[in-house]
Amino acid sequence: MGNCNALELLRAAAPTVSVGVVTANLLTLGTEIKLLEQTGAKLAHVDVMDGCFCPMMTVGPPFIKAIKTSLLKDVHLMISEPLEKVAEYVAVGADIVTVHVEACSNVHRVLQKLGSLTNANDPERGVVRGVALNPGTPLEALEPLLDELEFISLLAVNPGWGGQKYIPSTTARIARVKRMIAESGKNIILCADGGITKANIAEIAATGVDVIVAGSAVFDGKTPEANARFMLDAVAAVGRKQ
Ligand code: DX5
Ligand code: ZN
Repeated sequence: MGNCNALELLRAAAPTVSVGVVTANLLTLGTEIKLLEQTGAKLAHVDVMDGCFCPMMTVGPPFIKAIKTSLLKDVHLMISEPLEKVAEYVAVGADIVTVHVEACSNVHRVLQKLGSLTNANDPERGVVRGVALNPGTPLEALEPLLDELEFISLLAVNPGWGGQKYIPSTTARIARVKRMIAESGKNIILCADGGITKANIAEIAATGVDVIVAGSAVFDGKTPEANARFMLDAVAAVGRKQ
């Protein structure tokens, strides 16, 4: 990937799938990532959990640093008070850093901080600033942040575990945030994260969301490559119709 802006890359790839790699077989992660690269996937989604903001603990910067890949690193921080921590995630190669409004005493300041950081993979690439909302968080929380972000993620599950069921009210939330983005006139990527499987991906892709996160639907312990291709094809098929 030459000198290119991560946001432009994301926009060009949309609609696409960001594959949740923490669900992979971590003992053969290198192989699983290589398989992903061969499917045409563009994004590796890393769910960072601290066991405080959400019940589960997963991985941190050393894990992200260890992932050698051409995929964009889409880092979802489910951690409390990330202000002093985001620089570390950028330093180990995050291309997209998404923080939770619910986890920040001052989310606007965290986004300003992210805006001051340089992409460690390629200074030209920039760092895409993301904000995530849990299913119970009012969408109004996004209004004051639209000038300071490039990526919005709506969680369709309460964070903590892969393999949970999609919360149906997320679909209407996607539509409302799409309208907010259109009214803002800004180039903001909209993502849905959690509970998206082969069974519902066409329906979710039809909402016009730009990025769909899929963890357990891809890494099911049997056929990750075929699963990834299925999910990517399903999204591309809907993208062609739009
Ligand atoms: C919340 C995480 C999601 C989730 C995705 O737990 O942000 O990325 O783990 O996993 P699946 O696709 O299995 O729901
Ligand atoms: Zn996630």
